[in-house]
Amino acid sequence: MSQANLERLKLEANRATDAFLAEWPADADDGLYAPIHYLMSLGGKRLRAVLALAASEAEGQPLEKALPAALAVELFHNFTLMHDDIMDEAPLRRGQETVHQRWGSNAAILSGDAMFTLASMALTGLNASALPKALHLFNQTALEVCIGQQADMAFELREDVTLDEYWNMIRLKTSVLVAASLALGARAAGASEDRIQLWYRLGEQLGLAFQMQDDLLDAFGTAATGKQMGGDILSDKKTYLRIHTWERASAVQREELERWNGKGHDHKSKVTAVKAIMVELGSDSAARHRMEECVDAAVACMDALELQGTHREWFEFVAGLVTTRQS
Ligand code: IPE
Ligand code: IPE
Ligand code: MG
Ligand code: MG
Ligand code: MG
Repeated sequence: MSQANLERLKLEANRATDAFLAEWPADADDGLYAPIHYLMSLGGKRLRAVLALAASEAEGQPLEKALPAALAVELFHNFTLMHDDIMDEAPLRRGQETVHQRWGSNAAILSGDAMFTLASMALTGLNASALPKALHLFNQTALEVCIGQQADMAFELREDVTLDEYWNMIRLKTSVLVAASLALGARAAGASEDRIQLWYRLGEQLGLAFQMQDDLLDAFGTAATGKQMGGDILSDKKTYLRIHTWERASAVQREELERWNGKGHDHKSKVTAVKAIMVELGSDSAARHRMEECVDAAVACMDALELQGTHREWFEFVAGLVTTRQS
């Protein structure tokens, strides 16, 4: 049931993005729109679009009302991936070459900018009464994602990042968009301001769990992620895993971790060595435990929203997927 509902919503999200992007076709030698079509064609879970549509339905309205919001958050998300892959020097995305790898960084920057603009344009399809506040949240979210991404990069060079700083960083780079997806879907459906707030809070908790699983998969996942394995370790990203490990490392372990810091190491050796210490110190299970607490907090928000019946079932199913997914 829940799985079928997820597939139905994903199909609608895909249909809408395909129809929207068909207005900006790419010629064979096109360097602006081709990367956009390429990245979108590689798949992706379409989670943010699906959440926007599901929130509208949970508020008793047809998903069609939330399609502009779904398009906007999904295009925006894919734009952030295009730029994030430049920043993270990532070679792989969804199992294929990243845009900057294939077309160069300049193309990835510009196509990303165009994608952000397309996301804004998509949002203006919302009904007139919802649009002003929706646009405000969308812009605020975009700015916060930039702040989060800036912190993520700055943290690579710092060794004193605290867990509080980590939580705030992932809230900004990831959670606020998940939260906005639900809030915008609810707003499109005409929900009250109080309920929109509750949807936002649900998304924030879901987003934190989502990024924690992303960090876990980066280190301990399989090729199913479609991303370079151990990319976070190679860049010295300050993930929960890493902060937990460094806090608990003995003098000897710390010395070894310090030796692996920075670029210029053999990739496989660095990832293997750092992961071994993470496991020795139980950082992976600690991260899983902490992630489950975020899911519990998300479920508490479902109580506050008084989500019931099939809607409740579905959102709990999705919360479970966030932490069990392998891609
Ligand atoms: C990856 O997002 C970036 C993060 C915020 C962790 P997703 O895991 O949702 O990527 P796709 O869209 O499904 O490929
Ligand atoms: C991505 O975080 C957050 C945004 C794109 C805003 P990551 O850098 O961890 O995402 P992946 O792992 O590359 O998908
Ligand atoms: Mg990245
Ligand atoms: Mg990143
Ligand atoms: Mg990641």
